[in-house]
Amino acid sequence: MEGTFYVVGVGPGDPQLMTLKAANILEKCNTWFVPSAFEKGGSMALKIASGAVESNGKNILSHRFPMKPVHRGESPDPEVKEAWRDAAKKIMECLEGGEDVVFPTLGDPAIYSTGFYVCETLQEYGSSFHVEIVPGVSAIGAASAASAMPLCLGDERLVVIPATFENARIKELLEHCDVAVFMKVFKVMDRMVSLLEELDLLENAVLIERCSLEDQRVWTDIREATGTDIHYFSTMVVRKPSLL
Ligand SMILES: C[S@@+](CC[C@H](N)C(=O)[O-])C[C@H]1O[C@@H](n2cnc3c(N)ncnc32)[C@H](O)[C@@H]1O
Repeated sequence: MEGTFYVVGVGPGDPQLMTLKAANILEKCNTWFVPSAFEKGGSMALKIASGAVESNGKNILSHRFPMKPVHRGESPDPEVKEAWRDAAKKIMECLEGGEDVVFPTLGDPAIYSTGFYVCETLQEYGSSFHVEIVPGVSAIGAASAASAMPLCLGDERLVVIPATFENARIKELLEHCDVAVFMKVFKVMDRMVSLLEELDLLENAVLIERCSLEDQRVWTDIREATGTDIHYFSTMVVRKPSLL
């Protein structure tokens, strides 16, 4: 009897934003397979999970996933693929031994999470295993809440955009939406400020840094963020003015 692989969203940072279901699964699984990419090998997902569920005594398998972009329609960097394969192999060993494995992931697994890539890679191995995906509070919703900026009202259209897109692509997407959420803004904030200035949208943007964490910061004047080292955990909401 094979174990179940759980990919569990643990929310944006505050352990109180984890769902009861996520906490229950973390509680019952002895093996936590935790992704790490930054903070000197530390895992934010582990930190959040441990804030809600006792992690002492758990079998914590930490795995580094390189922070390299993956582009739709293009083959991922070999180092990235290798990390997925390596992770899948280790997880499969546990599952085949009848052990359940939980993969806690930041925010919601459906939004830019490695969890789905790991699931796909496990499936490529051809073994049958059970998988369960547990949704979590995404930084998208948490950023909206922290800034009191609604994402969709009435018949408004929302887009989620990686801020690393080139300007022309961002402009095109902005033409076709009412509200935009920009993720991964941390390295490109200066360029984003210039672009939004050009589009006369500076007043319509709010930047939320380390949302739901103790040192959360809401930047209502995003010009102030230029030239600063904003954290990787930063999301921007842009609500275009209504013509009315
Ligand atoms: C790889 S994506 C992961 C998104 C995550 N799965 C989610 O649903 O929120 C990382 C991006 O999420 C956003 N993010 C994650 N946690 C955040 C937080 N606490 N505050 C603000 N933005 C956050 C940032 O834009 C960051 O660059």
